[in-house]
Amino acid sequence: MTQGDMLYEGKAKKIFLTDKADEVVQYFKDDATAFNAQKKGTVLEKGIVNNKISSRLFELLEHAGVATHFIKNLSDREMLARRVTILPIEVVVRNRATGSIIKRLGLEEGLVIDPPLVEFFYKDDALGDPLITDDHVRMMNLATPDQVARLKNLSLKINEVLKPFFQERGMMLVDFKLEFGLWNGEILLADEISPDTCRFWDIKTGERMDKDRFRKDLGRIEETYQEVLKRVCG
Ligand code: TMP
Ligand code: ASP
Repeated sequence: MTQGDMLYEGKAKKIFLTDKADEVVQYFKDDATAFNAQKKGTVLEKGIVNNKISSRLFELLEHAGVATHFIKNLSDREMLARRVTILPIEVVVRNRATGSIIKRLGLEEGLVIDPPLVEFFYKDDALGDPLITDDHVRMMNLATPDQVARLKNLSLKINEVLKPFFQERGMMLVDFKLEFGLWNGEILLADEISPDTCRFWDIKTGERMDKDRFRKDLGRIEETYQEVLKRVCG
């Protein structure tokens, strides 16, 4: 496998072409942003942690029957993945109320959400990734009604796989964001699943074990990412 030109650079990752038209290298950076990149920083070795955790979780999900873009881990910061066309929809699953839903709806922090809630956000930085409904998705032709149903079912299934996995590791899976891509007409789970894209609360102490430490200046960011890595991959 030869790494080729850079195809895309996002806030936390770079995507490189390979000598196979169907495969890309996903490289994880240490760059961290929050609030639509108004806040910027670096979290040392975050890229390594997120690549390893994502690789482990994609493997776990593949075993559970969820098709993902993950092919294999290449190095500390790189994974080989299917070249997908990312759907411009961020799917958020919530088991507890925190973050944007509290500001939007005035819910109490930590409120149990059962059955879990699935929300869609339009992936557009210029617009600040606004919340959208199924009807917006249809109106804007972002996905077909069948694809919308599949995104919801897949996201809830992913939640059912991840929740007990983290529970066994002393972590509550509070909420998370997923991105999906189209590949040969199939929907594959893509992007990453990491402390950047999930919220984890330590079951014993309630400590925040995710990017909220960066967003809210809670300190001990690097140590916390390493602790999540240890619990997931150690
Ligand atoms: P929110 O409460 O800010 O809407 O975030 C919901 C979940 O999505 C949370 O686990 C953090 C994650 N997330 C991202 O991965 N990327 C983002 O740009 C945002 C805003 C949230
Ligand atoms: N990734 C998003 C951004 O930069 C925000 C976030 O994760 O809170 O801006």
